Amino acid sequence: MSVKLTWYGHACWSIEVPKATILIDPYLAGNPTAPVTPDQVKPDYILVSHGHGDHLGDTVAIATRTGALVIANYEIASYCQGQGCKAHPLHIGGSREFPFGRVKLTIAHHGSSFPDGRYAGNPCGFLLTLGKIKIYDAADTGLFYDMKLIGEEGIDVALLPIGDNFTMGPADAVRAAKLIKPKVVIPMHYNTFEMISQDAKSFAARVKKELPRVKVVPLKPGESFSV
Ligand code: NI
Ligand code: MN
Repeated sequence: MSVKLTWYGHACWSIEVPKATILIDPYLAGNPTAPVTPDQVKPDYILVSHGHGDHLGDTVAIATRTGALVIANYEIASYCQGQGCKAHPLHIGGSREFPFGRVKLTIAHHGSSFPDGRYAGNPCGFLLTLGKIKIYDAADTGLFYDMKLIGEEGIDVALLPIGDNFTMGPADAVRAAKLIKPKVVIPMHYNTFEMISQDAKSFAARVKKELPRVKVVPLKPGESFSV
């Protein structure tokens, strides 16, 4: 199975497999770096890591327009169902087979509330098994040692935040890569705003020096990487 990942800036990804398009954390309308608008995407599934506005983003509008199934923790799935969307609840450590592949929710050390301040459950990351390809989206998190356990799954591509301030910065993302040992790291959650500006090239150079077997592929918003 071929898997194409397209970065829509910040933590938003469009993942295309032969029979489905999966959109993750669709923060588009408010995202100054997004190369597409919420009207231009046609996902079959939307994965939401946590309730913060820069992740929940345009989920309800896109799911309402397209009929996409929202996959998220119980609290966010319930919230989306309350807004009239189709949603499937999972929770940390739980996984389920969907027509496109398996989704497992992983821990993330972060906060999570809806933009109106209501509780949105625990934040999470995602482990996606798409055919033989394993993708780990760490989402918003600080470094944690259990990334080693996620790495034991055999990760092909790790999507890691490097922005610092709200999530891991570049130095901890290098340590995360050491724990996960993925084949490829794609940095995210940086350069959307001044507060999370980072140099992806220097991050890539540092990984190359310390982890010569891990390839870093910095993308520009709108660019894709295929596995
Ligand atoms: Ni967040
Ligand atoms: Mn965020």
